[in-house]
Amino acid sequence: MAQPPPDVEDDSCLPEYRHLFHPDLLRDKVAFITGGGSGIGFRIAEIFMRHGCHTVIASRSLPRVSMAAKKLAAATGQRCLPLSMDVRAPPAVMAAVDQALKEFGKIDILINCAAGNFLCPASALSFNAFKTVMDIDTVGTFNVSRVLYEKFFRVGVLPAEPPVFWSPAHCPRPPHVLQDHGGVIVNITATLGNRGQVLQVHAGSAKAAMDAMTRHLAVEWGPRNIRVNSLAPGPISGTEGLRRLGGPQASVNTEVLVSPLQRLGNKTEVAHSALYLASPLASYVTGAVLVVDGGAWLTFPNDVRRLANFGSFSAKL
Ligand code: HXC
Ligand code: NAP
Repeated sequence: MAQPPPDVEDDSCLPEYRHLFHPDLLRDKVAFITGGGSGIGFRIAEIFMRHGCHTVIASRSLPRVSMAAKKLAAATGQRCLPLSMDVRAPPAVMAAVDQALKEFGKIDILINCAAGNFLCPASALSFNAFKTVMDIDTVGTFNVSRVLYEKFFRVGVLPAEPPVFWSPAHCPRPPHVLQDHGGVIVNITATLGNRGQVLQVHAGSAKAAMDAMTRHLAVEWGPRNIRVNSLAPGPISGTEGLRRLGGPQASVNTEVLVSPLQRLGNKTEVAHSALYLASPLASYVTGAVLVVDGGAWLTFPNDVRRLANFGSFSAKL
């Protein structure tokens, strides 16, 4: 039961795919995926599209998302709109969401996957370096969630077919009351802050704040029919994250061997968990953090001797 589905290392679509969930699970839904042009975000877009979803993929580099959108549409037959947007810039986020709504008329799912990271000890981290990661991961997640809430999720619609004789058993609200569109948000986080991972104070703090934001928004927006959850991947093969944080391949392989499932995860495994959280299968799940790491955070090395390989102070504070 712990055998991984096949995956490929680079940012290309899977050569073949066997559905484990029903292929119509996200039929005619629209997902807005930040960071959807590469790595985990790209695979989430592909798996969603293979389940009937249309996607918007947004990041800073227009060439990157444009090329990704072509590959995704060709492999799945679904529509994919590439947009250039920096999650740190609210006006750009508003413009991108407007464009997406113009193209599709709705957005059902938001995946906050954009992030920045690198290894650096706290003592060598400049003020701006810490702020940059907080801005992309935490503030960016708030910006995009807030804009989507304002522009679509909370906007009212009349129920399609109100019952003739209303009673709470037929419909949770009287038919003359506008219902919110509602929506689903999945924040891609990490377990770095759980044990205070060495060289990761910036990303660990940013992702922990995102997990807190997940719970706050789940509480405040639940009555608006919006579910908000976090998905925290572990070390995932074929990603920029692993290339930046994993160190030499040999050491990664040794480190994952001591984790409970004794291997790296792959992007499709993360995407399947995102699919579950975004779909009606998780209709009663909100405010949760789903850890998708093969148990790695429980046992992963957190070796302070790694600090010795880095400078002890930053020249740029
Ligand atoms: C120390 C660094 C640094 C490094 C940048 N900075 N790289 N400090 N070590 N390796 C500092 C810079 O000197 C600068 O501070 C500040 O950070 C901002 O740098 P910019 O290059 O101006 O920022 P920007 O262009 O906005 O780029 C953001 C970035 C970049 C995060 C620095 O690497 C990026 O765009 N990354 C996106 C892709 C990415 O990181 N993917 C991996 C996600 S994986 P000063 O003081 O000099 O101005 C992930 C995994 C989590 O999140 C868990 C895995 C297990
Ligand atoms: P990745 O390919 O580098 O993904 C990050 C994406 O974010 C890129 O597509 C990047 O595109 C986009 N991005 C960065 N800054 C942005 C900004 N300011 N505005 C808009 N988009 C921005 O890395 P990944 O490893 O697949 O990581 C994906 C997610 O999984 C991240 O949230 C990461 O923290 C999380 N995660 C990864 C791992 C892992 O093992 N890889 C483990 C735990 C958590 P542009 O450069 O075009 O902007």
